[in-house]
Amino acid sequence: MMKEVIIVGNGLAGLSAAMEASDLGAKVMLISQAPPERAQSVMAAGGINAALNTKGQDDSPQQHLTDTLKAGCELADPEAVEAMTKAAPELIKKLSRLGVVFSRDESGNVNLRYFGGQKKRRTAFSKSAIGKQLMCGLAQHVRKLEARGAITVKENSRFLSAVIEQGKCLGGIFENTITGQIFAITGDALILATGGMNGVFGNTTGSVLSEGSATAAVFRQGVKLGNGEMIQYHPTTVETKGKRMLISEAARGEGGRLFTYKDGKPWYFMEEWYPEGGNLMPRDVVSKGIYRVCHDLNLGIDGKNLVYLDISFLSKQEIELKLREISDLCKTYLKIDPTKEYIPVYPGIHYFMGGIYVDKNHESSVEGLYAAGECACQYHGANRLGGNSTLGAIYGGMVAAKNAVSGTPEKEDYTTNAEWIQYKSKCAEREVAKIQQRVEQFRTGTIVPNQILLEMRDIMNKAMGIERNEGELREGIKEINRLAEKAKNMALGKLQPSEAIAAENMLVLGKSLLLSALERKESRGAQLRKDYPQRDDEQYKRTTVAAYFEDGTIEISFKRIGEGAM
Ligand code: FUM
Repeated sequence: MMKEVIIVGNGLAGLSAAMEASDLGAKVMLISQAPPERAQSVMAAGGINAALNTKGQDDSPQQHLTDTLKAGCELADPEAVEAMTKAAPELIKKLSRLGVVFSRDESGNVNLRYFGGQKKRRTAFSKSAIGKQLMCGLAQHVRKLEARGAITVKENSRFLSAVIEQGKCLGGIFENTITGQIFAITGDALILATGGMNGVFGNTTGSVLSEGSATAAVFRQGVKLGNGEMIQYHPTTVETKGKRMLISEAARGEGGRLFTYKDGKPWYFMEEWYPEGGNLMPRDVVSKGIYRVCHDLNLGIDGKNLVYLDISFLSKQEIELKLREISDLCKTYLKIDPTKEYIPVYPGIHYFMGGIYVDKNHESSVEGLYAAGECACQYHGANRLGGNSTLGAIYGGMVAAKNAVSGTPEKEDYTTNAEWIQYKSKCAEREVAKIQQRVEQFRTGTIVPNQILLEMRDIMNKAMGIERNEGELREGIKEINRLAEKAKNMALGKLQPSEAIAAENMLVLGKSLLLSALERKESRGAQLRKDYPQRDDEQYKRTTVAAYFEDGTIEISFKRIGEGAM
């Protein structure tokens, strides 16, 4: 019987899962809020990692594995990462065949640049806009498959919840973002590729469409989360209205230098503190360095929380060939010409290493529910290497699809397909009714959901900065509990009735991140605890797992790395 696979999200992970599932003969439904041109993956700047070894630089998938595990502070699953790094070189070739344009050298070889935390030149790039190129290649191919009837594409649909019956996932419930109508889609497996949890913090480099409401929804349905506290602060971002703008690591990969002034002279603090890696230390290290300069040493530029990034010494031609988009961003939004001026930067939230807890097959703690890309906790441990997110998303999407197609158990209890379909529809109807009941509860409320979200973001940003401590985390949890009480008086969303449900779910998600950070009593990667400054391998070289129970409690436990998610 042909497997029916539902894929939610059309960024790199979703598109790649759709292609793979279709290649394997499944009936694929690709469903998303917006067209692929608006997916966050389009924003990826720096590149994609693969040990291509094009110039005999003595690189290997093994070295890629070693660098990834080291940067992730030994919290990533070595088996899963090894499979990814081994697959990476072939994947680049496949992407080239799909029409992805990589920057190349005079001999036609894919050009590679240095990126943070990597011993070798390993990051394939396309000037400083890899995301656009990758997305064009994949989206175009998916459109062809759609035209041939191999994939069904549905846009303007927001995921509200999964259909879960007796521990198995049988589909999803969605809201039409134009009409507000709630509807169900059933299948044999569901792959979430819905991106990071940007909506919990607001002020990130990520897209508002990757808000985390799908992760929040399934968490409340009992799907476990992993490493929620591991939130990557990218060292070089710039404040714009309510968002952070990314100045790609590519700038430092091409030689860019961070500095501030000390005793009236430029001080290249990263180069002094870390002669071995300097400005290209892993992101957690660079962000902590900038934090220390501004907060502990009070040496931020003009007394502000800023340091300078200098690429002005690069030739115009180098900038045009390798960093053109960074230069355009600086000119358009900051009114700075980086060939003549320094770029003022400070760390900002960029990526969520944690998310839906999956095993190496990308299956979550609920059978038949898979996750890939930034919404999944896989490959990056406590700190992600730049260039591994694009790789992890494309590769993870393929792995999830493969297992969704082959791994979904046969419907032993149903003798005919018609009976099976009927059973799934009944389960979906029950879930739709549940959602509609939840929507009703907000019909008489008065507080707009966005107000609750704004207050939540304030609380989360205060409690989960680069540096954390028990007092602030506990205060954050108290504030979220207070806000959850207030949220009982939320009104229906004006544009989408489900906005109140999403906000309610996101409060629970936010609380789970705070609890995860509270319980990990050590400093490792993106988790910097002022009250527990040491790394403690004995107790915490483990995955933090958050589980939600129907009575509203959240339990945090620590599991062996690589232990199955179920
Ligand atoms: O800085 C960057 O270009 C970001 C790359 C990444 O997050 O992988």
